[in-house]
Amino acid sequence: MTQCVLLTGGAGYIGSHTYAALVDAGYDVVILDNFSNAARDVPNRLEVLAGRGIHVIEADVLDRAALDTVFADHRIDAVIHFAALKSVGESVRKPLVYMQNNVGGLVTLMQAMEAAGVYRLVFSSSATVYGEAEQLPTPETAPLSYGNPYGHSKLICEQIIAETVASDPRWAVGVLRYFNPVGAHTSGLIGEDPAGVPDNLMPYVAKVAVGELPVLSVFGDDYPTPDGTGVRDYIHVSDLAEGHVLSLKALERDGTGHVVNLGTGRGYSVLELIAAYARASNRHIPYKIAPRRAGDAASSYADPSRARALLGFEAKYDLHDMCRTSWVWMQNAKKASD
Ligand code: NAD
Ligand code: WQD
Repeated sequence: MTQCVLLTGGAGYIGSHTYAALVDAGYDVVILDNFSNAARDVPNRLEVLAGRGIHVIEADVLDRAALDTVFADHRIDAVIHFAALKSVGESVRKPLVYMQNNVGGLVTLMQAMEAAGVYRLVFSSSATVYGEAEQLPTPETAPLSYGNPYGHSKLICEQIIAETVASDPRWAVGVLRYFNPVGAHTSGLIGEDPAGVPDNLMPYVAKVAVGELPVLSVFGDDYPTPDGTGVRDYIHVSDLAEGHVLSLKALERDGTGHVVNLGTGRGYSVLELIAAYARASNRHIPYKIAPRRAGDAASSYADPSRARALLGFEAKYDLHDMCRTSWVWMQNAKKASD
C-alpha cells in the first residue's frame, strides 16, 4: 500500500529535493510549510518536476490545531520534520525565536503525532551537534556540544527525541545529522536561493559566479589544513534527499530508530570548492582572504559508515556534480528573476 508522508518545511531547500525523491520512490506526500523561508513558486515547480498535482498546506508547525487538522484529513504514515530556522548568525541575535521555532515546533509536532497515533518520524539534525569535533572523520559516537543557539536548539531536539523514544516503544525516529548540503536538482527546477547575502559558502560562490556579488571573502587561510582554508564535507542535496527515503524505509522495516551522519566522508577546502565551481561554470570567481569567522572549525567531515551499514546509504554525486547543478540552477533562477 502507498505510504503517505508529511513533510514539514517541505517547500524549503532540502525539503523540496526530498519531495522529488519521495515521489520517485512511489510515496504520496503532503507538504506543510509557513513559507517564512521558501519561495512562493516552489509548489508549482514541484508540480512540473513530479508531473502531478501537489498537496501543500500553508501552516505553522507551532499551530497545534492546524496539525491536528492535517492528521485528521490525511492518512499520514510518517513525518519528515524539516521546518526550522537555520541561520547561525541570526540565532545568536534571536535565541528565543530559534528555541521557540525549532524546539517548540518539534514538541508541538510530536504531540500532534502522538494524538494521531503516528509514531514514525525523520528529523533534520546537523553536524553542528558535534561542536568543534576532535575526532575526524567524525562518528555518531563523538561527544556532542554546541557553539551557538541554532546548534543548541538541534541538540535539545535530539535529546527530546531520545527521551520520548525511551518513554514509549511505539516511536521509531531517524535522526539524520547532515554535513554541508549543496548543489541542486539535475532538472534545474529547484535549488537553494537564499534571500540577500548568503551565510554559506556555495550559495555565496554561486552569486559571485553569476555576477550578483562582486567578490567572495575566504574566512581564514591559516587553519591547520593542507591549503590553510576550512575543510568541509559537502554533500549533494539529492544524495541527502535519498538518505531520507532510505531512513523512512529503515523505520518501516526495523520498527526502531537510528542516529546517522549523512555526509560523503570526504572533505574539501574553500579554495578547492572555488576552483571546482570556476571549472563547472567556466567563470572566474574573484576572492580575497579575510579574517577567520568566529566559531568556525578548521575541518569537519563525516564518518559515513553507519549510514552505509544501517541504511545502505552511498553518496553518488561528486564535487563537480554539486557545482555543475548549482550553476545550472543559478542561471535558471537568475533568468526567472530578470
Ligand atoms: P530552509 O529554510 O530552506 O527550509 C526550511 C523550511 O521550513 C522553509 O521552507 C521554511 O519556510 C519552513 N519553516 C520554518 N519554520 C517553520 C514553521 N514554524 N512552520 C512551518 N514551516 C516552517 O532550510 P533547509 O536548508 O532546507 O533546512 C531544512 C532542515 O535541515 C532544517 O531543520 C535545518 O536546520 C536542517 N539542516 C540544514 C542544513 C543546511 O546547511 N541547509 C544543515 C544541517 C541541517
Ligand atoms: C563552509 C566553509 C567557512 C562563507 C553551516 C552551519 C551548520 C550547517 C551547515 C545547518 C567554512 C567558509 C563560508 C564565506 C568562507 N547548517 N566560508 N566564506 O559553517 O560549515 O556550516 O552550514 O545545520 O550548522 O554552521 O558552512 O558554508 O557557512 O562554511 O570562506 O563567505 O566556508 O569559513 O570553512 P559551515 P558554511
